[in-house]
Amino acid sequence: MSEAKKIRAAITGVGAWVPPDKLTNADLEKMVDTSDEWITTRTGIKERRILKGEGKGISEMAIPAVKVLLEKTGTDPKEIDLVICATVTPDMIFPATANIVQHAVGMTNAFGFDVEAACSSFLYSLTIARAYIEAGHAKKVVVIGADKMSAITNYEDRSTCILFGDAAGAVLVEACDDGTGIIDARMYTDGVGIPYLYQKAGGSKYPPTIETVTNKEHFLYQEGRPVFKFAVTKMAEVVLEIMERNRLKSEDIAYLVPHQANLRIIEATAHRMGIPRERAMINIYRYGNTTNATIPLALYEWEHKLRKGDNLILATFGGGFTWGAMYMKWAYDGDKVPKPSIETNVVGLPEAQS
Ligand code: ACO
Repeated sequence: MSEAKKIRAAITGVGAWVPPDKLTNADLEKMVDTSDEWITTRTGIKERRILKGEGKGISEMAIPAVKVLLEKTGTDPKEIDLVICATVTPDMIFPATANIVQHAVGMTNAFGFDVEAACSSFLYSLTIARAYIEAGHAKKVVVIGADKMSAITNYEDRSTCILFGDAAGAVLVEACDDGTGIIDARMYTDGVGIPYLYQKAGGSKYPPTIETVTNKEHFLYQEGRPVFKFAVTKMAEVVLEIMERNRLKSEDIAYLVPHQANLRIIEATAHRMGIPRERAMINIYRYGNTTNATIPLALYEWEHKLRKGDNLILATFGGGFTWGAMYMKWAYDGDKVPKPSIETNVVGLPEAQS
């Protein structure tokens, strides 16, 4: 089969939605013993978005993100075959939040499910979409990355509450035969990371009780230093592995699209790849770590700069441990995409705001 005719899975559109309410470093200074200076130098974060209001789960953000995506790409919801929702904070333990979005948006011909692999769920989900498309079992897949980290963050724990924010992003993945799309991916899991980053209670091992609530075991727990060490090593290693086996040199890469957990991890990865900071999509300043929304949210903000054929390396790292990297050729010219009519609350890059 000639290279040009190979069926590949390509991202053909991006949607996003973030809550309007901000939690700034100045706000956090009033809540815990911390400072803007400490947060900025250790993490790169200045502010995050928080989904406020009772009874609001990630679907509150994922539904408008998918509506934006379908509007921008001119896609009828009935054309979608599969909906995958990557999240660690689903609306409910079950049914899947994918079903909630599928129903609300009217993707009546689609089946759906959620994927949970900590912060790496979004990239893992893209590999699943790729497999369905390359096998010919789906033509149009919506992959959502959405998390309401404020729901599992202990705002009395200064070591974690400064890190996380709420957001949703979504991409349309379609079958393409023009040489663009996902070329290669390598995902990893290592359970050695379990003790360093987890939410203890709420699952079948420790169902909710008065004790689990009193002991704050429904909040995320993290030992930052070992997670940082593992992340900084493994994210660079997997990116270099993908570059090497696809014979990519640093000058061949248009952008690194990294999970936004810590500015220092992103900068170290870009440095190991030999690419300047400007070619790494970095928006952690504005949103913090939004877990599974970080990668689609970055793609949403940089979309207008992307051109058909651009080589992108997507890279992730998360609890568990989970990590991976993906190499894709971008499928369309981002500057030709219409602006959505729905208010997304996404800041966007300065040159895209006019
Ligand atoms: N303000 C001021 N001081 C603080 C704060 C704060 N918010 N938080 C911690 N400190 C203090 C600590 O108490 C410690 O003080 P000590 O030296 O007197 O004991 C000191 O600062 C250093 O603490 P560390 O935890 O060692 O700080 P570090 O430089 O490692 O930064 C951070 C912490 C930002 C959490 C970093 O470790 C990190 O980014 N880790 C990786 C996070 C990550 O990648 N997670 C994976 C994705 S998340 C997911 O999958 C859901």
